[in-house]
Amino acid sequence: MESTNRTVVITGAGSGIGRATAHAFADRGANVVAVGRTLETLRETAAGRARIVPLVADIAAEGGPAAVVAGTMERFGRLDVLVNNAGIVRPSPLGQIEATEFDRFMAVNLRAPLLLTQAALPHLEASSGTVVNVSAAVGQRGWPYMSLYGSTKTGLDFLTRTWAVELAPRGIRVAAVAPGPVDTPILENNDFDPDSVAAMHKLREQLPLARAGTAEEIAFWIVTLADPLAAFTTGIVIPLDGGYSAA
Ligand SMILES: NC(=O)c1ccc[n+]([C@@H]2O[C@H](COP(=O)([O-])OP(=O)(O)OC[C@H]3O[C@@H](n4cnc5c(N)ncnc54)[C@H](OP(=O)(O)O)[C@@H]3O)[C@@H](O)[C@H]2O)c1
Repeated sequence: MESTNRTVVITGAGSGIGRATAHAFADRGANVVAVGRTLETLRETAAGRARIVPLVADIAAEGGPAAVVAGTMERFGRLDVLVNNAGIVRPSPLGQIEATEFDRFMAVNLRAPLLLTQAALPHLEASSGTVVNVSAAVGQRGWPYMSLYGSTKTGLDFLTRTWAVELAPRGIRVAAVAPGPVDTPILENNDFDPDSVAAMHKLREQLPLARAGTAEEIAFWIVTLADPLAAFTTGIVIPLDGGYSAA
């Protein structure tokens, strides 16, 4: 797989799946704009790989998506691949959901990918580019206490299919990956309580493959979906979940 001289923007590149994806693209010769709110972790992602450039931005803040696209064009003058990866997750039992929490989920997991994709459109069109959304297997079945997270991810699946059709005439492909449990710092990053952490670990054992995935196993499919040889592929959401959605 080749990515030479393409420019890839990855949100949430300071850890987990985003970091592994940044490494995978850079190791295939792409220039990578690594987006997140924390410069220190973005620098860790970029360490030893000159092709990765950190860009500090809050994609949920006013002007964040526009700043990401402007910074990318300023640095590299092109944008070939947009990976909408940054996301937040927390249990949200019905009966305890505050409107502010609903708004936060929507802002990070759904509004930001939409506004970022919108801001990137002219540049993606110029490069016959690709958008890869990072969804979640949680949307494939009911999952207690995941009302907010699951809603944003099934929303992202719908955006993936809709944009694939809407943007095909402009030469832009759109696809998504839907991971099951993956070994990343996501639970720590989102202050999961010990009971919720235990429940998530139990879930891993119940998957047909009986383990969590690795960030590299998810990055492989993100890179593959953006590969020029995937040019006939658009509008799909690939389950990467150890068999969760098949069982
Ligand atoms: N790990 C799993 O089990 C799993 C399963 C299914 C789906 N996913 C999805 O995979 C994606 C990546 O998750 P992960 O497991 O790699 O989690 P992670 O390690 O917590 O990575 C998420 C990244 O997003 C960044 N981020 C959060 N809010 C942001 C904002 N407003 N603006 C810019 N960056 C922001 C965080 O960095 P800063 O805080 O420094 O900004 C962090 O580096 C998420 O969309 C998640 O829903 C993960």
